Amino acid sequence: MTFKTLDDADLSGKRALVRVDFNVPMADGAVSDDTRLRAAKPTIDKLKAGGAKIVLLAHFDRPKGKRVDAMSLKPIAEALSKVLGAPVAFADDCVGPSAKAAVDALSNGEVLLLENVRFHPGEEANDPEFAKALAANGDLYVNDAFSAAHRAHASTEGLARVLPAYAGEQMRLELNALDAALGNPQRPVLGIVGGSKVSTKLDLLRNLVTKLDKLAIGGGMANTFLYAQGHDVGASYCEKDLADTARDIIRLAGQNNCKLFLPLDIVVAEKIAPGAPAHVRMAGSIDDDERILDAGPETVERLCRAMGNSKTLIWNGPLGVFEVPPFDKGTMDAARHAAALAKDGKLVAVAGGGDTVAALNAAGVTGDFTFVSTAGGAFLEWMEGKELPGVAALSR
Ligand code: 3PG
Repeated sequence: MTFKTLDDADLSGKRALVRVDFNVPMADGAVSDDTRLRAAKPTIDKLKAGGAKIVLLAHFDRPKGKRVDAMSLKPIAEALSKVLGAPVAFADDCVGPSAKAAVDALSNGEVLLLENVRFHPGEEANDPEFAKALAANGDLYVNDAFSAAHRAHASTEGLARVLPAYAGEQMRLELNALDAALGNPQRPVLGIVGGSKVSTKLDLLRNLVTKLDKLAIGGGMANTFLYAQGHDVGASYCEKDLADTARDIIRLAGQNNCKLFLPLDIVVAEKIAPGAPAHVRMAGSIDDDERILDAGPETVERLCRAMGNSKTLIWNGPLGVFEVPPFDKGTMDAARHAAALAKDGKLVAVAGGGDTVAALNAAGVTGDFTFVSTAGGAFLEWMEGKELPGVAALSR
């Protein structure tokens, strides 16, 4: 895939309209996790160094085309200013006179954040007129929001049709890492897919078994696979109506020479509570009132061996209820092993998806992974093999 980067752009004195993803977690009106703000810094720094005027476009939450004061980006301008160590101006609209006045007031190297693009219905409708109104404040367009690139909205897709378009630094990093994990990976490639629901990951599993050499299925969704193979799952969460689908995926994996790893042993308990009494059992051996809440030690050991025999790992979704110890052990042990291999340069380890990132953070290993995506839905859609409109628009 080819796209232009900031190295290809003449930046001096230009108004750069930069789409970032500042859809960040907030608590009590303040940013509680600034990962996405920090991720935008390299692009902002590069534009500054090139002498551009930096005009940031972003969405927050889902105001559905109306102004909703609780979804204003204003508090985020303040948090960004701390991350950048420089002032960030704010305009209370992303189009019209207030946006224009704020952009006109910028000197080279200064940063302005415009109000939530989703306050206008034209954003999600990808209305060409709205894209033109946004474009009126820019000479070039930089998309640095990989995590919003699965949306074909005016600021993620439409603008690339109106202005010269470039991939920002975070976008470039994401695309390169994803290419190294699934596009053109060093083989063998191992995937780990966890999380609770098979139903939300059907397309993902169907795509992965055609691309990967090995795939480990964990978390609640593994229960559906165990059930489909005739194992008792007790009182575990299980989508029994998807047993046929699970068997289809097992067949498809076989046809594509993708070795599938389902749990060998399991950690069971009667309830999900911190410190709840837990037992290790072989898959299928479970009482009626017990639930499978984590992968067992043999399963994790086999997974770690598979990592050691692979060159690339792509990971989405935890292996158990990692938020509640002791059911975090499988995910934590596997994450630490992957991180150690990646740190030693023995494994290209790429992970993404909200829960996965939270689990890696809890294991304290995010920094040792080769790459951890800032994206949730976009990472999943990309793993499903879907074209992301925001990315496609950059490579036109
Ligand atoms: C995200 O947080 O994953 C992106 O910003 C996309 O947000 P959305 O699901 O509201 O489009």
